[in-house]
Amino acid sequence: MARGRHPSRLYIDPPEPQVAKKYLRYWYGGDIIREPDRFPGLTSPDLFGNCNPLEIDFGCGMGVLSCNRAQQSPAINVLGIDVSQKPLFCAINDAHHRGLDNIKFVRGNFNALLPLLKSETVSTAYYLFPNPPHDYFHQRANTGRKRFLETLYSSLVKDGRLVFATDSVDFFKCMEIIITKELNYNLFSLDFDSSGISTWYRNIWESRGKDVMGIAVVKR
Ligand SMILES: C[S@@+](CC[C@H](N)C(=O)[O-])C[C@H]1O[C@@H](n2cnc3c(N)ncnc32)[C@H](O)[C@@H]1O
Repeated sequence: MARGRHPSRLYIDPPEPQVAKKYLRYWYGGDIIREPDRFPGLTSPDLFGNCNPLEIDFGCGMGVLSCNRAQQSPAINVLGIDVSQKPLFCAINDAHHRGLDNIKFVRGNFNALLPLLKSETVSTAYYLFPNPPHDYFHQRANTGRKRFLETLYSSLVKDGRLVFATDSVDFFKCMEIIITKELNYNLFSLDFDSSGISTWYRNIWESRGKDVMGIAVVKR
């Protein structure tokens, strides 16, 4: 169920066809499983035709962070992935409005896209304010989370960063245990408050007076 002010209940103008063609790829997980070779890797050369550092925003929603990063740093590429169409339409319209050439979006389930990640190709992976699940202490669910984090980590280049944030204390504790105790990653000291990381949901939670918590790891 959507939390906060999710745009799924609003009418959002779809992007013009040529804008969608420039920014959006729509991939079904089943197709990736059946024919993985038909899909490009989630890398700068495959998606952007250059070797610039690649940042991936897993569950990018309205694409606030993705578009900000692409605009702030023209020498990087940004990929936003989300399964929901309407937030992606907002993200694409925003990227078009800002005239960005270094950003793309994939509509799809990021779990299904993980096989398209290549080792040591991503400079920063963001996993920000995912909908908190309710199965923190289920071993099977945590095994899935651990596998997800391991795959993201192995896709990072040396000195690459993985950033996670949430408004849920329980979810934060659960992910913190996996990251620090089970996976033994190098913690990167991140002052999330002053990190400059702005997302649609961060803004919603903070405007309601909620605390947000972030953690980052760096690959040495
Ligand atoms: C609460 S929103 C957060 C969006 C954004 N990161 C932010 O902070 O504003 C979570 C987003 O993750 C997306 N999402 C959840 N599970 C996903 C999955 N398996 N694959 C792709 N997107 C997913 C949802 O559609 C939603 O847009």
